[in-house]
Amino acid sequence: MSKFIIKGGIPLKGNVVISGAKNAAVAIIPAALMSGEPCTIENVPNIRDVHTLIDIITNMGAKIVWLDEHTIEIDPTELRCPMVPYESSKQLRASYYLLGAMIGRFGRATVSMPGGCEIGNRPIDQHLKGFRALGVDICTGNGVINAQASALTGGTIYFDTVSVGATINVMLASVRAQGATVLENAAKEPHVVDVANFLNSLGADIVGAGTDIIRVKGVQKLTGHSYFIMPDQIEAGTFMLCSMVTGGDIEVSNVTPKHLRAITDKLKNMGASITESDDAVRVRMQGELRCTNIKTMPYPGFPTDMQPQIVAALCLAKGTSIVTEGVWENRFKYANELIRLGANLQVNDRTVVVENIPQFKGAPVTATDLRAGAALMIAALAAKDTTELEQIHHIERGYEDIITKLQKLGANISKTHCEGTLTGPIELRGAV
Ligand code: EPZ
Repeated sequence: MSKFIIKGGIPLKGNVVISGAKNAAVAIIPAALMSGEPCTIENVPNIRDVHTLIDIITNMGAKIVWLDEHTIEIDPTELRCPMVPYESSKQLRASYYLLGAMIGRFGRATVSMPGGCEIGNRPIDQHLKGFRALGVDICTGNGVINAQASALTGGTIYFDTVSVGATINVMLASVRAQGATVLENAAKEPHVVDVANFLNSLGADIVGAGTDIIRVKGVQKLTGHSYFIMPDQIEAGTFMLCSMVTGGDIEVSNVTPKHLRAITDKLKNMGASITESDDAVRVRMQGELRCTNIKTMPYPGFPTDMQPQIVAALCLAKGTSIVTEGVWENRFKYANELIRLGANLQVNDRTVVVENIPQFKGAPVTATDLRAGAALMIAALAAKDTTELEQIHHIERGYEDIITKLQKLGANISKTHCEGTLTGPIELRGAV
């Protein structure tokens, strides 16, 4: 398997352009299948999850054309509604959005139950609760979800727990239901708003996205349109931390500063100097990192998808920090790998106590999931010596062209391929 070779200790400087948001793209692409006409989606992140999803919908009969590296045209007119196989839903949890899209388009869907993953068992009971409130009959068995609605009718759903996936999925199904739907205790994440904005551009009638009450009036049909996906606030936050742990000076551009408010606030607590412009934030770090306490929460709280990354940075902060995971039940699996790099962490259920260490020391480590891999990468960039980071396919699921972006900032990072050759800085060639 390929791995990253990172020789850290270099202050990262310069500009990085943030890609389209992964968690918006993996919902907007299925949403486009509900249109009766072709749609053009711009600012699509060129990441593994998007390619996996495009393979799935191509097999369902959608026609996809890449108009350029970040723009796709989706023609759903020949779409069929076959079962989404377990292999696909295992590779990409977000394939569950095909449930909502196919129910919205055809009134029926068959999708394999998505599995759990490294951060928790990830139930979908709230998704199914919402579909049933719209008159959909759901039956599950042999690892498959069968959904069938004789008539898709609007309803009111109160989500027992704030769920991004359930909010988006039920919103998808409700767009073409007869009558009005109200989603209460809805998720408020920016990508929920992005999906709603996309659907409204196709002719849907959704108001309230971004608040905890979303109202949908069913419409007869959706037309084609073009749409520009929002920037990825988690990728932005990850690069902001790369600047801080290396004592760097990075301008992170193509961002929406408002979406970064909780992240920016915490990084300033930790001693970063952050200046904002309309679509960029500049992050400089002089002096020592300071400790802070964090509890991850649904938006607008501090995002859970930044938790592993900020724990890596807090290892270098003076003092003791306490980080509590408020969303997932098991999101500290990366801790042992960070400890291999010298971290001093005590995990207890949903809380980690982070003691200061003078520096990370390079070692061979393994990414256990997407954001865990990002955390190990941050630690490796701070370490003064060389780290080998394996299972990097996790990182490439959600970070577009991460090597090139880091190399442009001055990082000494390269990727070994299966055959052992390197792409990256000359001085590292031959490292195995
Ligand atoms: C989305 O996952 C993101 N994934 C996750 O990002 C992110 O961590 C999460 O939202 C929270 O922001 C995508 O958007 C593809 P949830 P999702 O439903 O929708 C419980 C990343 O790193 N729950 O908001 O699956 C659940 O167990 C990934 O990019 C139920 O109990 O998350 C969790 O405790 C990781 N029943 C909480 O709600 C349900 O039916 C939030 O989950 C659904 C969820």
